[in-house]
Amino acid sequence: MHRTAHRLRMNFWSGASERDTGAAARALRAGRLVAFPTETVYGLGADATNDAAVRAIFAAKGRPADNPLIVHVASVDALRSCALTPLPLRPLAAALAEAFWPGPLTIVVPLADGSRLSPAVTAGLMSVGIRVPRHPVAFALLDAAGVPVAAPSANVSGRPSPTCAEHVVSDLDGRIHGVVDGGQTHGDSCGLESTVVDLTDESRPCVLRPGAVSVKDLERATGVAFKRPRGSSSRCQGAPLQGLSHQNGSAGHDRADGDDGDDGQIVDRPKAPGMKYRHYAPRAPVFLAHSESRTELELQRLCALYPPDACIGLLADSQQCERHAHNPRVRTVPCGETGDVASFARELYGALRAFDGEGPLAVAVPVHAIVATVPSDVEDGIGEAVLNRLMKAAAGQSEPALSSAG
Ligand code: TXA
Ligand code: MG
Repeated sequence: MHRTAHRLRMNFWSGASERDTGAAARALRAGRLVAFPTETVYGLGADATNDAAVRAIFAAKGRPADNPLIVHVASVDALRSCALTPLPLRPLAAALAEAFWPGPLTIVVPLADGSRLSPAVTAGLMSVGIRVPRHPVAFALLDAAGVPVAAPSANVSGRPSPTCAEHVVSDLDGRIHGVVDGGQTHGDSCGLESTVVDLTDESRPCVLRPGAVSVKDLERATGVAFKRPRGSSSRCQGAPLQGLSHQNGSAGHDRADGDDGDDGQIVDRPKAPGMKYRHYAPRAPVFLAHSESRTELELQRLCALYPPDACIGLLADSQQCERHAHNPRVRTVPCGETGDVASFARELYGALRAFDGEGPLAVAVPVHAIVATVPSDVEDGIGEAVLNRLMKAAAGQSEPALSSAG
């Protein structure tokens, strides 16, 4: 049933209702912007062949025009009807599609000659990012829409990506036509955006953004080495195809950073256009601590630096947060369980937004700075993605500005 929630200036559809999903699909086909759940984060969708609709995505998010969008389709078969990329897919792309679709993997492949895509989708590049999501509501919507759907994360540029419909409403109410509510992107979900791999040169495959599909997963499925993202630098420089080389997985790889940010602050000049922008940031500056003892020191430092009535936020696993609950200067937001980095990933964006007063864990008193304790297991897979997003949330924050206090 199509309903417009009270006080909202956008439609709020239920992902559990076929009728609602049908209404959302018709809106997409009519050139409207519709947000929808995926197994990673909520996306802000538009018909990728409709130039005005795609441009409206950039306007609604405040996203720089040079940051291309991922095109979502219901299935590999659906690729045939929309001529996004030359078919059949080349061997590496085909192997990854077979192994990980539907799922949290985006492949960047050559754009087909004569594709009907709006040029705004690819930001003028000769390549296109494609993903087949595995969320049932996303599948139902894409299948009913029958058009390729361009969709970035459904947040205002620079803010943490949305993991529930309420996050979308909070960022985009009045700016988009509607959202399909699929609940929290929890459970079987990742909570962080898809892994993005660049396959435009199949002899030099490269991970542009880490996600739930790990570098080891990619290498195991294909038998070739992938350049991996690390730190905050750099282009994808590629290495020759190395055959089966799990042992070669990360050592010696050049760095290919994986930011997908889309606010206006340029922090790098990397290969994926979105990687050069800061992202995932709550309003207060974020400082990272790599152990509980360092967290303690960082909290002490910030408490001493700010006026005595200023509160400092702590984002850490729930057990650690409990240990700081007694401190009147500290406002805790629990994120995941100790030793379970996947749970940290699922809850990270909701926790960052809680510091801006959103959701069930919203902090009542604004914090002046946030200390985030980095989970221990961040070497590979979803842990590597967690570290990447935390570093982006904290990017550029070295010393807190006293002027922001008070
Ligand atoms: O999980 C996800 O990927 C979510 C859901 C909605 O699918 N989408 C998402 O989109 O995170 P967005 O726009 O927030 O991030 C897409 C990233 C950006 O860093 C963008 O620069 C990169 O993918 N990208 C897209 N097309 C590209 C291309 N042709 N070449 C290089 N990078 C590309
Ligand atoms: Mg995004």
